[in-house]
Amino acid sequence: MTWDLGQMPDQTGRTILVTGVTSGLGTHTARELARGGARVILAARNPQKLAVTKAALLDELPDAALEDLIVDVSSLDSVRSAAEEATRFGALDALVHNAGVMATPERRTSDGLDLQMATNHFGPFLMTGLLLPQLVASGDGRVVSVSSAMHRFAGKAPLWDPRERRGRHSRWVVYAQSKLANLLFTHEFDRRARAKSLQVKALAAHPGYAATHLLSYGQTMKGSGGLTSIFDAAMKAGAQSAEMGALPTLMATTADLPGGTYCGPSRMQQMRGLPQVVGSNRLSRDTESQRRFWDLSEQATGITYP
Ligand SMILES: NC(=O)c1ccc[n+]([C@@H]2O[C@H](COP(=O)([O-])OP(=O)(O)OC[C@H]3O[C@@H](n4cnc5c(N)ncnc54)[C@H](OP(=O)(O)O)[C@@H]3O)[C@@H](O)[C@H]2O)c1
Repeated sequence: MTWDLGQMPDQTGRTILVTGVTSGLGTHTARELARGGARVILAARNPQKLAVTKAALLDELPDAALEDLIVDVSSLDSVRSAAEEATRFGALDALVHNAGVMATPERRTSDGLDLQMATNHFGPFLMTGLLLPQLVASGDGRVVSVSSAMHRFAGKAPLWDPRERRGRHSRWVVYAQSKLANLLFTHEFDRRARAKSLQVKALAAHPGYAATHLLSYGQTMKGSGGLTSIFDAAMKAGAQSAEMGALPTLMATTADLPGGTYCGPSRMQQMRGLPQVVGSNRLSRDTESQRRFWDLSEQATGITYP
């Protein structure tokens, strides 16, 4: 059964933190949650871009309850500072890990982690653990990770020391592994939260193929410029709109669904269309890989939870 915005329950009274709101899917996700009545914490790494995004959202929705949070999710220090800052928001009903990068050049963060793995998984892993008390405090918290159909191209789960340099680097394989990581995390977190009877669940979503700056940023590491426009145009040619791409995330964040649910587009092999509950590959559902990857993520980020 497909889902559309008409089915989104009233979000009044809910507080939802969305990362990566300055572009693409994140902007639309934040807008629709705010339109639905939620208080939305707009999390972004670039203060200027955040101010522009917030102003645009308020222009369209003058009564929206919007808060700001600066965080570079690729940096463990930045995530720690942001989590401390976020205590002022009180209980959190949902945490949406939307910020991400795709196929960036091989690069290590100041924590010694691969940039894609740090941005797409390790930063969000740490953030979830640090914000867990606030998610639990809401009485019905949920964590939504934006994965990708590309998780199917990971080949294997990234079950090695993430600070270790391995042989040949394929930026696309690393991206696929980081998106597989989102699903391994979702299933393991959900299972661990249930085992501890915590009132928190984890879900995942993917947008299919949606026109955003994801491709151009990964290829140029720039927000604008000639090459950026060419990559943006190439992505737009074959993709559905970013508005449509945000629907699976909105479904996972607001629909009455059990933990572990994965939402994605319903048509053209999950590439476009209204969202529905979809499946992920066998590797993402492998409980031994989920467990081992969780332990490794704890070691890499220095946090143990739930
Ligand atoms: N578009 C698709 O077809 C597609 C397909 C599958 C999965 N996804 C996933 O969808 C999510 C959203 O991507 P998008 O397509 O909307 O791409 P996008 O237009 O490039 O937006 C990415 C957002 O993430 C933010 N971001 C990147 N690195 C960050 C960091 N270190 N700290 C904080 N924020 C950071 C960006 O901030 P700046 O504006 O500062 O750069 C931007 O707001 C990603 O997780 C991506 O993997 C997208």
